[in-house]
Amino acid sequence: MPRFRLIRQDAVYELIDTHQAQLALRIDFSAAKLQHRATRGGKKELLLRAVGAKPGLRVMDCTAGLGTDSFLLANAGCNVTMLERSKILSILLSDALRANVSNETQQILSRMHLLEADAKDVLLDMKRMGLLTEGQAEPLPDVIFIDPMFPSRRKQALVNGSMQMLQNFVGKDQDATELLALAMQTGCSKVVVKRPANAEALELYKPSYQYVAKANRFDVFLQ
Ligand SMILES: C[S@@+](CC[C@H](N)C(=O)[O-])C[C@H]1O[C@@H](n2cnc3c(N)ncnc32)[C@H](O)[C@@H]1O
Repeated sequence: MPRFRLIRQDAVYELIDTHQAQLALRIDFSAAKLQHRATRGGKKELLLRAVGAKPGLRVMDCTAGLGTDSFLLANAGCNVTMLERSKILSILLSDALRANVSNETQQILSRMHLLEADAKDVLLDMKRMGLLTEGQAEPLPDVIFIDPMFPSRRKQALVNGSMQMLQNFVGKDQDATELLALAMQTGCSKVVVKRPANAEALELYKPSYQYVAKANRFDVFLQ
């Protein structure tokens, strides 16, 4: 039997890890914890400071995952294109984006657009289009955001249940350096990479500056 199973429970898709006795993974943008984080205000969210989040900013989130970072960005008024290559996670995300939520949350969700795709393909297309049309192609996003998966990114106690399950499910993202290189090659003026606080920088590029928190760090690349 496969370790992970996608089931439909109360008309919502959930991912179950048959090897762990933990709650099923479902994405709920109305969850109290996320709503609290969103309404607590942006000041504490280094993500928002690193991205420079503001209404109308166009952000491409290359690693949508559970959609938490995308939601926080959309809550700050950004228009977010979410790329996720896992079919299962894309199903969970699109389910959550279609869910019956309050009007306020619905307004936030209307700024989040999901595409099931490998971000490398999308970035490569953006780079090619830019080269072909000498900058006249579709406007680039204002910011490209990348949050690759690192198995031991946080102390186990700090990794919440959903993120732990995501780690077990997707494993390590081996192509993070390639993703950063492609993002830079599109010519986008700002690329932000989320890393464990004490991790080495991804090779090839030196961050212009960093925002460092206890568990995470945001490397900002300007060009
Ligand atoms: C650490 S999680 C991202 C968590 C996310 N920032 C959040 O707030 O929930 C990394 C996710 O990025 C996805 N991913 C990694 N590389 C990708 C790529 N090249 N294209 C699309 N998705 C990718 C993985 O499948 C995984 O779901």
